[in-house]
Order: sequence, then C-alpha cells, then structure tokens
Amino acid sequence: MAGETILVLNGPNLNLLGVREPDIYGTETLAEIEESCLERCAELEMKLDFRQSNHEGELVTWIQDARGNAAGIVINAAAFSHTSIAIFDALKFAELPVIEVHLSNIFKREPFRHTSYVSMAADGVICGLGPQGYLLALDALWRLLHGDEDDEA
Ligand code: DQA
Repeated sequence: MAGETILVLNGPNLNLLGVREPDIYGTETLAEIEESCLERCAELEMKLDFRQSNHEGELVTWIQDARGNAAGIVINAAAFSHTSIAIFDALKFAELPVIEVHLSNIFKREPFRHTSYVSMAADGVICGLGPQGYLLALDALWRLLHGDEDDEA
C-alpha cells in the first residue's frame, strides 16, 4: 500500500507550462507532469501531494507544514529559486530530504539563473532534463528514504 507522502512543489509561472516559452520548457502541461508523477509514485508505493503556487509565502507555508507530515520534498521553485531566502530557510526548517528540479538547464541560460538558494538546502539537483527530471527526483527520494532495500530483494 502507498506509504510515505512526497510533496512536489512548483513555483511561479509553472501553471503556464505548455503555453509558456515551449522552446525552453517544452509542450507538456503541469497537469500532465502531475499525472506522470502519480504513476511513478504508485509504482514506488508513495503518496503524491502535488502543488503549484505563484506566491512565495504560500510555498513557504506549505514547506513549513511538510515537517512531520511529508517524507520528502521535490521542488521546482522556478524564479524564486534564484531570489528566495525565505524558501531556503523553510527548507532547512523542514528537515526533510529535498531534491531540486528545473526543466531547463539553468547553467546554459542567463547568469542570474546560475545561482539557486534552493540548491543550498537540497540533497540533489536535477536540471535540463525536462519533465523527466520530476520522475528522476521521485526515484532519488525513494532511494534516499529506503537505502539499498531494493538491492536486497
Ligand atoms: C525553471 C528555471 C527558472 O530559472 C525559471 O525562472 C522558471 C523555470 C525551470 O524549470 O527550468 O520559471 O525553474
């Protein structure tokens, strides 16, 4: 049966995926990414809590609430990655494994995208692989939470 809950957080403008700069972010919508994450979580026997907000404070509150309630966090904080000390502080408070995701390769883009406060609180960072990055992040969290269990099976 589905076990621990994984919180997948999406920051500003990611509600526009599919329409917004498809040459950079692709044509898949956020709803389609959520559907893929649901399927992967079912395979991994984890519960998915998938959310998006354009508001920094709302993301901060969700991260605070994850402490003691979620087993891990996947976060694409979008533009807030490069600006938000508040999200960084909340991630430290949560004391949970964190995987940061970006659809695009932020290091191939403008210099202001090369720094991420989220990275400083993350166990791992995946960028440039499009929606597949979310699935890899879920796999990585499973591995962080369950260690080598599958190797012993
Ligand atoms: C993004 C990269 C950010 O720099 C940008 O502000 C986004 C999306 C990505 O997924 O590639 O909104 O996080």
